[in-house]
Amino acid sequence: MDIAKMDEFAKKKGFFWPSSEMYGGLAGFYDYGSNGTLLKRKFENAWRRYFLGLNENFFEIEPSDIMHEKVFKASGHVDGFVDPVARCSKCGTQHRADHILEDFLHESFEGMTPEQLKKVIDEKGVKCPSCKGELKEVYVLNMMFPVDVGSGKRGYLRPETAQGPYVNFLRHFNLLRNRLPIGLSVIGKAYRNEISPRNLTTRMREFTQAELQIFFDPSQVEEHPGWGGVKNYKLRLFPDKEKKIVEVKCEDALRMGIPKFYVWHMAKVQQFYFDVMKVPKDRFRFRELSAEERAFYNKVHWDIELDLPSLGGFREVGGVHYRTDHDLTGHQRLANQKQEVFFNERRFMPHILELSFGVDRNVYAMIELNYEEEGDRAVLHLPASVAPFQVAVFPLVNKDGLDKEARKVFETLRRDFDAVFDQSGSIGKMYYREDERGTFYCVTVDYDVKKRKDVTVRDRDSKRQVRVKLKDLPKILRKLIDGEIRFEKAGKAIKPAKPKKK
Ligand code: GAP
Repeated sequence: MDIAKMDEFAKKKGFFWPSSEMYGGLAGFYDYGSNGTLLKRKFENAWRRYFLGLNENFFEIEPSDIMHEKVFKASGHVDGFVDPVARCSKCGTQHRADHILEDFLHESFEGMTPEQLKKVIDEKGVKCPSCKGELKEVYVLNMMFPVDVGSGKRGYLRPETAQGPYVNFLRHFNLLRNRLPIGLSVIGKAYRNEISPRNLTTRMREFTQAELQIFFDPSQVEEHPGWGGVKNYKLRLFPDKEKKIVEVKCEDALRMGIPKFYVWHMAKVQQFYFDVMKVPKDRFRFRELSAEERAFYNKVHWDIELDLPSLGGFREVGGVHYRTDHDLTGHQRLANQKQEVFFNERRFMPHILELSFGVDRNVYAMIELNYEEEGDRAVLHLPASVAPFQVAVFPLVNKDGLDKEARKVFETLRRDFDAVFDQSGSIGKMYYREDERGTFYCVTVDYDVKKRKDVTVRDRDSKRQVRVKLKDLPKILRKLIDGEIRFEKAGKAIKPAKPKKK
């Protein structure tokens, strides 16, 4: 799939499109339609269930999106959260300097200083992509959105969800009975005034993050109680030195200098992608960031990357960040409030391991990774955990009371499933529509509903069909969705009716 196809598919099938579209759109802002919103919420729910389930001391919180400017002075964002910009001397447009070079030379220039970028621009004769004018100035711009609050107080729209948990840490430490580790997670919006928003929902100015901040005792960074369960598990790593994917046992990752507490969480992140999101192994990797590329607050930094040909190959969808005590120390200093804790008979500043995910990038990736063209139409092979609907119900025809019977079936199923009802168009068209938004099973109510008290259930991926007794339908669907039975065992197999051509 290329990006133009993704754009068209997402718009046409109710996933996402530019915000304020009727006024020409506003660069970097997108709206999600009904199918996109369902998919996004399901990703968030699956993420929440999985990552908060890693430890009984992990919880979700909801801090505000606008925070005091001192929060971001303390965190380093006011001074350090900048992007390099090249300004055209002819048309005045500002472009992300590293992005223009990336587009022109097809390699990464992330982490370079304005001086280094200017040198490459001059050497390679790179011009303004809008008007071909000279790019004479390269400098940095802060990416945060300032906000005037009330009468003249400055705040910022948060550029990451992370600072909310940091400024709320001590309250939770007390609330959670003074134990470590503690995990505080936020699933919410982040705002960045990106110089050149692009690639649909993968680089926006308003986007959603799912982040988990794990506060732990730094003297225990080489420990994890669950280590035995992962030590032989293989991680797919792309180390900065080797520049190729290597499969490394967790145990051997320690010899590469990655702390045990960090490696255990890498294993859990990878398992989330393989076991819950059903991402094929060869489409996933952790990429190590070089010292120049690393975010200013990180000591160890591996990005989570998925292979997305529409964006040119492996692209970042998240990261595992060892932020040490950078943030808590900053807040302690500026707020003049001790952030140290007394635990394990010592007083110390906790360290932070951050699991950070961009929800929009993951949703985009789930669409691309599961998209398959079948002739002139498409099927989204989404896993059960994120498919917008689990089951669709239709009447075979809208007469002889079948529509009423189908509605009854739908009303029963919607109590326990994410179900949708449709009665518009031929059965073939209704199947296609559901395939395109990834609905797992379609239930068709035909004339046998009265005689034999059964219905047809069709499987999205194999297109096979079985007859299932009405009384068993909820139980069978539950087992199918939970992967407890194979489709062939769900009922009496029938020959698929050939759908009429569109
Ligand atoms: N708290 C750490 C942090 O914010 P980050 O690498 O800057 O780290 C985390 O952002 C994730 O947020 C990224 O991996 C990406 O998936 C997502 N993200 C970042 N900028 C984005 C943007 N402009 N549009 C969409 N998603 C973005």
